[in-house]
Amino acid sequence: MGVSAATEKFLRSHLNTQSPAPLLHLRRKWRYNSLAIPVLHRLVDGFAVAKESEALMAQHVATEQLTITDWVKGLAAIPGRDFTLENVQDYIIRHSARPETLDKYCYFSKGNYTRNLIFKNEVFECMTICWEIGQASRIHNHRDQNCWMSAPIGRLKVQNFRVDDRDSARGTCRIIPTEIYEMDATHPAYVNPLEPVHQVLNLAEFRQRAVSIHIYSKPFDTCEVYLREKGTYGDVPLHYTSEYGKLNPAEKLL
Ligand code: SIN
Repeated sequence: MGVSAATEKFLRSHLNTQSPAPLLHLRRKWRYNSLAIPVLHRLVDGFAVAKESEALMAQHVATEQLTITDWVKGLAAIPGRDFTLENVQDYIIRHSARPETLDKYCYFSKGNYTRNLIFKNEVFECMTICWEIGQASRIHNHRDQNCWMSAPIGRLKVQNFRVDDRDSARGTCRIIPTEIYEMDATHPAYVNPLEPVHQVLNLAEFRQRAVSIHIYSKPFDTCEVYLREKGTYGDVPLHYTSEYGKLNPAEKLL
């Protein structure tokens, strides 16, 4: 996908300036792949401001725990034009949602993971995804939209993929696994816009349910799903299991 020159520079600066030691001071670590990424770079005229990042790290940046209502309010206060990969990432590293306030948005089903809408406007949508042990999403993209994820409850594995030999006329491609990383309460993540195809898995070996929070900007209601074995891909519609805390009448939770 195409990303803005500033975002691309931002991503590259993260990839090229890994320095794990100072990150140990952060209560929450940020990453989109197996490399922990310093999150506090600010862009000035397209250049990452490393000095500020280092200064903030030295202050041991703490995460403020908020109710989900306040957490979403804070997110919604970011103006649309500023709702960038970097700014939302910065918000999420500094603020986390208290797990006990998520109850209203937690529906589990043995049939499939559930998608539970918390908030939606023109700029973004935010939902919990509830994962029974062993459940996983299909290999998919996010329609070229930014996506940030955190997992206040449980642990999740994220597997990224590269797409080769895409033939849109035939709907075929090859899917190659690339990075793997894990998310939990202290390791939020964002989907790498340069390699956006991924799958999220609550592995059986994690032995616990998980609840993740996903922010999509802008909202989307279809995505491309990739069938690795068949070498094909195609559009699928997305729907919500519950909206604003209310189970959709058509839903049958197993
Ligand atoms: C994910 O695995 O990224 C979640 C997919 C979804 O929104 O259904």
